[in-house]
Amino acid sequence: MPFDRSVSADPHDLSAESVWHIDIPEVRFGRHAVDELAFQFRGLGVDSDSRGLVVTDDGLVAAGHADRLSSHLAEEGFDVDVYDDSQREPSVAAVEDCIAFVRDETDDGYDFYVGLGGGSCMDTAKTTRAVVANGGEPLDYVAEPTGSGEPLTESGPPLILVPTTAGTGAEISPVAILSVPAEETKEGISSHHLRADAAVLDPTLTTTLPPELTAQTAMDALGHAIEGYTTHAYDSLLRATDPGARPVYAGRTPLTEMFSRKAIRLLSEHVRPAVHNGDNLDARENMLLGALFGAISGLTAGASLCHAMAYPVGNRYHTTHGETIAALTPASTIDYNAASDPGRFAEVAELFGVETTGLTDREAADALKAEYIQLQRDLGVLPSGLAELAGITADDVDWLAARTVDSQERLLRCNPRPVTEADVREVFLDALSNWEA
Ligand SMILES: [Fe+2]
Repeated sequence: MPFDRSVSADPHDLSAESVWHIDIPEVRFGRHAVDELAFQFRGLGVDSDSRGLVVTDDGLVAAGHADRLSSHLAEEGFDVDVYDDSQREPSVAAVEDCIAFVRDETDDGYDFYVGLGGGSCMDTAKTTRAVVANGGEPLDYVAEPTGSGEPLTESGPPLILVPTTAGTGAEISPVAILSVPAEETKEGISSHHLRADAAVLDPTLTTTLPPELTAQTAMDALGHAIEGYTTHAYDSLLRATDPGARPVYAGRTPLTEMFSRKAIRLLSEHVRPAVHNGDNLDARENMLLGALFGAISGLTAGASLCHAMAYPVGNRYHTTHGETIAALTPASTIDYNAASDPGRFAEVAELFGVETTGLTDREAADALKAEYIQLQRDLGVLPSGLAELAGITADDVDWLAARTVDSQERLLRCNPRPVTEADVREVFLDALSNWEA
């Protein structure tokens, strides 16, 4: 039976998958790595008199980060424009605005692009480069029925992503998330052509992130690490007949498991000092590393139920992705999915720092849930559940569950434990309150 649910390659053979691969951008990591951006662009074949665009937002301009990047590139001979109107959790219209900027300023697009900021800025940059290179509008490349479902065929000129948060993983993922207000949904454009050529992770850019956003993005990163570690194995999928047809989320592999383990340790150990003392550069560096490792795992193996449930919540209530993941994780990723493989969740508990000696696997999984909630309480800036997050009540749960099942099949199919609409309702109810606020 697991094969029935786990088919995501098409066409496929009626035998188990036996091959995995990993495809991530070139990664440059460390303090002041961003000062090597010009060097990196030259390595990607960009000439020094080329014209590029930095896609960012007004907050990063105010923090001085956008100026730091564009000055560096200008000193190295590049001609740089800045688009600073990226929107949080961008809608299709918000990305169209950036595309229109490019089409107004250039004949057929810039010679190179930089996405500077959190996941929203990076997704805006990824989508803009792709749509300008392929023509048309963003909805042409969103899956049916919301969009036309056309494939991207061109990657476009070099794109380097520079995250200023430690969490989303957008810098390495082949996906961009856009909200579609008319449909009350969030949709992903998913294509290997969307992936950046390189990611530059510099912890000195993350010290200005306020405690709330630090905590939210950390919970997203932990979600990627744990969901990636506990999703189905790559060889529980049916084998792709065409190697090019392997799904973007292809199940956990020995490589993704290794990254998950390290990510869970780094993130759980360093999130408290990073939130409580943002200038602690050691903590910031470890969080950035943990978030990268979590993304390499979760965004290759595949996110699951928690991420599926988060999109309808975020779209309807305009909550951020990270705080939504934080509120949903205890009930979904841990409590509901623990039954799929209690021993694996006991391992997560140990990686998370839970004392598991003498506990059964199920007891260890329960202790993980308690410890995870305690961590959120210690951070002091996260909601106690969906009720506090957005005033969500039991009356809203039917709609949210129906939207999750209707719109998030891509992620639900990856969930390690089979899930029905009734199950999703129960998990939403459980997530209304994780502790007494
Ligand atoms: Fe996420």
